This record gives sequence, C-alpha cells and structure tokens, in this order.
Amino acid sequence: MKAKLRRSGAKIMASLIVLLGSLFYIMLLAVINGSVGFIAAMGVTVCGATGVAKALGIMGLCAEVSLSWGWIIGLAVGCGVIRGGLRYLEQYSNHYIAFKLLAVLRDKIFGALRVLCPAKLESKQKGSIIAMITSDIETLEVFYAHTISPICIAVLVSLAVFLFVGFVASWYLALVALLGYVVIGIVVPLISSGKLKASGVNYRREFASFNAYFLDSIKGIKDIVLNNAERDREGEVNRRSDILLKETKKMKNGITRASAATELMVTLFIAISLVVGILLVHFDLLDLGRMLIGVVTIFGSFGPVLAVSALPGNLTQTFASGDRVLNLLEEKPAVTPVKNGKTFDYENLSVKDLSFAYERNAPVLKDVCMHAQKGEIIGIVGESGCGKSTFLKLLLRFWEKDRGEINYSGIDVDNIDSDNLLDNVTMVSQTTYLFDESIEDNLRIAKPDATQEEIENACKMASVHDFIMSLPEGYKTQVGAMGDNLSAGEKQRIGLARAFLKGSQLILLDEPTSNVDSINEGMILKSLAEQKSKKSIILVSHRESTMAIADRIYTVSSGIMSEV
Ligand SMILES: Nc1ncnc2c1ncn2[C@@H]1O[C@H](COP(=O)(O)OP(=O)(O)OP(=O)(O)O)[C@@H](O)[C@H]1O
Ligand SMILES: [Mg+2]
Repeated sequence: MKAKLRRSGAKIMASLIVLLGSLFYIMLLAVINGSVGFIAAMGVTVCGATGVAKALGIMGLCAEVSLSWGWIIGLAVGCGVIRGGLRYLEQYSNHYIAFKLLAVLRDKIFGALRVLCPAKLESKQKGSIIAMITSDIETLEVFYAHTISPICIAVLVSLAVFLFVGFVASWYLALVALLGYVVIGIVVPLISSGKLKASGVNYRREFASFNAYFLDSIKGIKDIVLNNAERDREGEVNRRSDILLKETKKMKNGITRASAATELMVTLFIAISLVVGILLVHFDLLDLGRMLIGVVTIFGSFGPVLAVSALPGNLTQTFASGDRVLNLLEEKPAVTPVKNGKTFDYENLSVKDLSFAYERNAPVLKDVCMHAQKGEIIGIVGESGCGKSTFLKLLLRFWEKDRGEINYSGIDVDNIDSDNLLDNVTMVSQTTYLFDESIEDNLRIAKPDATQEEIENACKMASVHDFIMSLPEGYKTQVGAMGDNLSAGEKQRIGLARAFLKGSQLILLDEPTSNVDSINEGMILKSLAEQKSKKSIILVSHRESTMAIADRIYTVSSGIMSEV
C-alpha cells in the first residue's frame, strides 16, 4: 500500500513534537543529559591525552593553563562519575517519555474517536481505523523515545566537538571532524537506508504471510488430521519457512554491510584526522600537545553519530504512521455534540419535512413527516435499504439532518444538549456488541448504578433472564469465556434488556426480534405493550407479527414515508 502523505516530513515531525505537550521538557532534559554526558565521557580521554602530553613534556596548551597532575586525574575521575550519573538520567527520561506517551497518545486518539463516533466511524474508509491505530502508536513510541533525542544529541555533541577542536587545536582538524559527522551520520545512512528499504519490506511481508499461514494451520489442526493432510501441510509450512529464512538472510546481509561501511568510515576519518594533525605539526601550524588533544578528542567523538546511523532504517514508516494519526486527530466530526444546550422531558416527537442524504444528489429521506405521543407504539416498515435505520439515527442526531424539523416536546434536536438527548432516547440497533466482561457488567453500561433487581427485571422483559440463569455462573458469566457460543438471538435480547434497563422515555428498536423465535418474540412484544403507557416506542421491522402490536404504522418507499 503506497498512500501519499498529506504533509511534508518536517511538518509531521513538528506536529508530533507539539503533541508531546508537557513531556517536551522531559525530552529536553534527556537531550541535555545525553549531550553533557557524552561530552563528559570524552573529557576522560582528553584528560588522558593531556596527561600524556604533560609526561612527554610537549605541553602547549597545558603549560598555559598549567594543570597539575592532581588536577588532571581529578578531572578525569570527575568526568567519569558525571558521565555515569547523566547517562542514568538520560535513560530514565527517555523511558519515562516512552511509557507516558503511549498512554497520552491512546487517550488523545480515543478522545478523537469518541467525537467522530458514530457517523464518521460508520463510513467505509474508516473501517480499518482500529487495527491501524494500534500499530501506528507502537511506531510513534519508537520515534519519540529513541529517535528525536539521539538526533538532537548527535547534533549538539558534534557541534561542541567542532568548536572545541577549532578553538583549542586547529580549524582544519575541526573541519575534518565535521565532514566525518556528515558522512557517518547523514550520507551513509541515507544511501544504505535506500538499499535496506526493499529488503525490509520483503522481510516484513514474508514474515506476516508465514505467521498467518502457521497460525491458520494450528487453528485448523483438527480438520487437517481429519482429512489426513498433515504431510501436504507440513511441506507447505517448510517451503514458506525457507522463503522467510532467505529473506531474513538477505536483510541481515544488508544490515551487516551497512554497519561495516559505517565502521569503515569511522576508521577512515580517524586516519584522516591523524594525517592532517601530523601535517599541521610538520608545517609548524600546530604544536604537538594541541594536536594530540585535538586528534584524541575527534577519535572519541563518533559515538553520537553512530547512534544516529543505527536508527531504524528509514523514517518513512514513522512519517506514514504520524501522518495517519495526525489525520485522525484533525478529522472534523460529521456532527458536533451540543454542549450546554436545551434540556427536555420527553412528551412527544414531531418530525416535519425531514430530508437527508449521505452523499450529495442521492437523497435517502425526502420530506418525511411523522409524530409520536407518550403511550404509543409506532411501526415503521419498508424494504431493505429504504432508509429506516437512517431515520432512527437522525432521531438520535448520529447524523445531522439536511432540512426539516425533528422536535422533542417542541425543541429542535439541533438545540438539545447531546447528553440530555441520549438520556431521553435510546436505541437498540440491528447488531448488539457485547464486551468481554460479565453479562451483568455488559448490562450495567446502560445504568451503572442499577440494582440486581432492576437488572433482572429488564432481562425478564427482554425474555433473556431464564437463559442467563441457565449459564454456569448466571449473571456473573464472562461473555468472553463463552466465545461465539451466544447465539444472535441471545445477543439481541441482551441488547433489548440494556434498553429496558436504561429506562428512557423514547425507545427506538431496529428489528428487535429479527433473530428471535416466535415464543420469545411473543414475550418481548408483551413486555413492550405493558410498558407503552409510560413511553413511546418506535419499532422498525419486516415482520407482520411484530407490527401487530403497533398503534400506527408508517411505510417508507423511495425515501417517502406515509402513514398507513
Ligand atoms: N454511512 C453511510 N454512508 C453512505 N451511505 C449509507 C450509510 N449508511 C447507509 N447508507 C445507505 O443509505 C441507504 C439506507 O440505509 P439504511 O441502513 O437506513 O436502510 P434500512 O432501511 O435500515 O435497511 P435494512 O432493512 O436492510 O436494515 C442504503 O442505500 C445504504 O446503503
Ligand atoms: Mg436497517
């Protein structure tokens, strides 16, 4: 999949750094600790070089600042201790950021999804969003924790060494070092990442394909044995395993070659700086002591750029992940929730001249009029795809209407506080999702403080109480433990029980009995009839038997709704 990025790499980096929020300061701390730590580490070698220069009696610089043996040894030990402490702090900050950031990012993304829900998440192109989110967050974690700070540290330390060597020894030597940093930290990684990219992509593809095939074989092992197909299957597993091994070898080869090239460059630049140093001394442009210090400083200064060159092959993947996450965070919701809007107590619903289209020029509903009073059951019938579910979603403001009015007790739905609307109106949609929790907890999301009695009453009304009691742990049974053992009808009835437990004044039921047998349907319809004196119920169904309890029936055809 080769999607074009919406933003440039620099823009993505900048936006991702802005997302850090207050963690930015911790990252700054990590960068400072890392840079100072590296410089302290080099301090140890520089002190050593100074000591050597002093012993050999070639003190250029050291004579000027007249360092005693005590000072040189003290500085070397001090630098070592500081290096240790700072290294610890750097690692601590980096990992603090890494772990915190996962939580922060997930929170932000969940918040964004919450606002986009349900309209935007329903449309087809958002189908893969959830799967994408998890892997993208992992990729970004690497970016935040192990990419930004090494790059910053490399830039800062290299700059510091360049200035130090320039001022203390010679600017010629400093320029050699700078060239080395650019080649090792930028040029070599760029060249090798281009080559590594293809083998990396191939490896990942084969890895995924092998895993899928292997897991599939394990899942289906019973059927493999039943069909006496072990030999064929084993042969295929081995064949795919060989392909994967070949790709792994290719990739490892590439990586080894890249790191060999990098090491070669380090050696080369150490040699060049030594040669330049000797030449400078030879032509009397530099004294031996300063040359020694300059060259030794350069020798020990390639660590940070080596760390950069070892970063994950290419940033392309990080940018792609960042782009997708930013797209999601910036996505405009189809419907903005109404905060601090008007509140109402449901008495009646009146819909006038309501029109709606998902896409321009393809109207789903045209000038729909209908009304409902407390104490009524309203039926809606119509062929599949005519817009019945759409109508219910508009009543809940999951989508915003294009034209017309939807008035609850005289207040238009667009002015009603979103929370208040969902308190008054509830819907059982065509598919009920059950969480991997106990049945009781699954019911409780409708009313967290419900008593056991309320829960059981709701389940009795939905004709699912007896079924739940027949389970090994009754209401405490874990839904996950039963896997797919819950039938479609049982799930549907639990969805209904949720709606009854919620106790809203207007209940929208989208095909509430489509998967239920006629005995259970009869019981559910009886409970609906018993409740209707206190509520309105809008019932969408194809079934004649269900429609029998409706007080009034509307039919929908070609987007037009008319009362029968
Ligand atoms: N999110 C969406 N984006 C674009 N088109 C949609 C969307 N949801 C539904 N539609 C289209 O709108 C039309 C009405 O769909 P709707 O789900 O309201 O039909 P329905 O009457 O409930 O059908 P069924 O009886 O099969 O449940 C269909 O043509 C459908 O393809
Ligand atoms: Mg429908």
